[in-house]
Amino acid sequence: MKQKLEEIKVQAKAALEAADSTQAVDEIRVKFLGKKGELTAILKQMGSLSPEERPVMGQLANEVRGEIEEAIAVSLKEMKAKAQTARLEKEAVDISISGKRKENGSLHPINSALEDLIDIFRSMGFDVVDGPEVETEYYNFEALNVPADHPARDMQDTFYLTDSMLLRTQTSATQIRTMESRKPPIRMIAPGRVYRSDDVDATHSPVFHQVEGLVVDKGITMCDLKGTLEQMAREIYGKDTKVKFRPSFFPFTEPSVEVDVSCSECGGKGCRVCKGSGWIEILGAGMVHPRVLAGCGIDPEVYSGFAFGIGLDRLTTTRHKISDIRLLFENDMRFLKQF
Ligand code: PHE
Repeated sequence: MKQKLEEIKVQAKAALEAADSTQAVDEIRVKFLGKKGELTAILKQMGSLSPEERPVMGQLANEVRGEIEEAIAVSLKEMKAKAQTARLEKEAVDISISGKRKENGSLHPINSALEDLIDIFRSMGFDVVDGPEVETEYYNFEALNVPADHPARDMQDTFYLTDSMLLRTQTSATQIRTMESRKPPIRMIAPGRVYRSDDVDATHSPVFHQVEGLVVDKGITMCDLKGTLEQMAREIYGKDTKVKFRPSFFPFTEPSVEVDVSCSECGGKGCRVCKGSGWIEILGAGMVHPRVLAGCGIDPEVYSGFAFGIGLDRLTTTRHKISDIRLLFENDMRFLKQF
């Protein structure tokens, strides 16, 4: 029996040496130590031994069991360590490799000009409203004092979608929507895309951007308009910028003006940016026509207002001395990366 026990020990250890997976080790444990295992089978024969032999063999059997258990534990530990080393090797990260540089995006110059305008007007108490690009004739023309047969409709070549639906030619349509839905005091700006069937060239695009402004309250005068626009121009073009009003005509404002700012490039002497005039035209404006107010249910005897429409693309090109408006729309990365 003693010899048998020794044999089991040697066999178990040899098997463990050869084992190459935890699963194999597990099988060895069952084979030698399990309920139906070889050691158990021997212990079952203990009954046939003499009372003197029994404790000696019992002790020996326990020693063998202990040794095999220990060998199993050692072998499992080794395997775990090996597996971990292998994993670490596989997952090794070379921290000396240089990183991949992520390119930072930047705002499109039109958007950054718009964000500046929004900041400037918000600080003066304006809020920002939105209006649809697909408009009705009513909001784009009629309510703005441009009846169907009015020659002013020819001022803006219009993309019609149906007989009465069109792509808005001016953000002024949002003036009407705002006055219909709100009571004075009103102070809003409405930025957005507008459409006119113009041919593309260095200064024209069939899609461009305006920022409409509207203030309606008691006692609003042309002085308020001038002060507001001067403040805006100084913040956009620099604090020495001057603003000039030229008489003009829009059907929905009376009086109407076109507004020039002194050229920030040459300070008014005349240069390439201002085409020699010293001034840059950036917007149309005026006092809201009494008929427009009345049409929106606002009593022109009580309230007055001013409105303006900034040409955002022109503001952007002159601000950055960009010579061709097309650059703003072509999405050439070499151009856009400069901002
Ligand atoms: N809507 C006018 C245009 O597109 C600009 C404008 C806006 C004029 C508001 C006066 C008041 O030319």
